[in-house]
Amino acid sequence: MDAEIESLAVLGAGSMGHGIAEVAAIAGYDVVMRDIEEDLVEEGYDNIEWSLGKLAEKDQIDQEPEEVLARISTTVDLEAAVEDVDLVIEAAPEDLEIKRDVFADVDAAAGPETIMATNTSSLRVSDIAEATDRPEYVCGMHFFNPPVKMDLVEVVSGEKTKAEVVDAGIEFVESLDKTPIRVRKDVPQFVVNNVLTPFMGEAGYMLDEGDVEIQDVDAAMVFQRGYPMGPFELNDFGGLDIFYHSREQWDDPVPESIESRVENDDLGRKTGKGFYDYEDGEGVNYE
Ligand code: 3HC
Repeated sequence: MDAEIESLAVLGAGSMGHGIAEVAAIAGYDVVMRDIEEDLVEEGYDNIEWSLGKLAEKDQIDQEPEEVLARISTTVDLEAAVEDVDLVIEAAPEDLEIKRDVFADVDAAAGPETIMATNTSSLRVSDIAEATDRPEYVCGMHFFNPPVKMDLVEVVSGEKTKAEVVDAGIEFVESLDKTPIRVRKDVPQFVVNNVLTPFMGEAGYMLDEGDVEIQDVDAAMVFQRGYPMGPFELNDFGGLDIFYHSREQWDDPVPESIESRVENDDLGRKTGKGFYDYEDGEGVNYE
């Protein structure tokens, strides 16, 4: 196979999808970003514009935002998005059936040697790949939130993924100026989230027991361990529903302090309240 990646499509314009499209465009790729509805695509594009503006304001990119934006085209047409690209990165909602449907459609529309990557964070790549007739061309490419700021990307080999596909994925990630790690075993949550979700879960259990204050746990991890965010702040940042769903779908227990907030729709920053209150309160403050 000719494994060189020159063009790509990102399926999904949400927080991961638009971030991945942005990163690829910054690296010089022409990117097609696709979502199922026009307003979702527009929202993703606006978020890229905002982010590029921030990066430019802080001298964190060496190009004009307009140059980067010119490399991004948008569509709601899946077939048109994938029919002529070397790589497709799927960043649809974290639901096995949705992802399998997307992969079946991509399989039908993309060229025979197109690499099909999933940005899943908690599902098995092999379970998604089974929806295609060519699981050897399917790999995981797991970016972290926000993609434009996070250096690491997990490149995951499914049970049937060809070695050349993983190698091409690794090379592509390096071309984005990011650091890939090769995940050789297709276990749910790969490497990072297998360590990160118990970290956030354990903090939740301590809170359930009434042993700690939220801000003290976060301060401990930030000031003692040097983490950019403590476990509660990080859960608020990513969304408590994302954490909850990733545990619950594998029947892993969820602390009551997280479950009750999810039931109350206090999902973190995106709803204005989670462990911290971003609307009526002062947000994160543990100094
Ligand atoms: N693009 C551009 N700018 C952005 C941005 C983006 N996408 N997101 C935030 N910013 C901006 C903020 O608006 C803020 O701007 P301001 O100063 O003008 O208000 C600025 O960046 C924040 O800059 P800081 O210097 O204060 O912070 P840093 O840039 O040093 O760090 C951070 C911000 C990168 C978010 C850092 O706090 C961090 O690393 N947090 C942890 C994130 C993390 O661990 N993510 C992984 C989660 S797990 C995951 O994603 C798995 C998935 O599968 C669920």
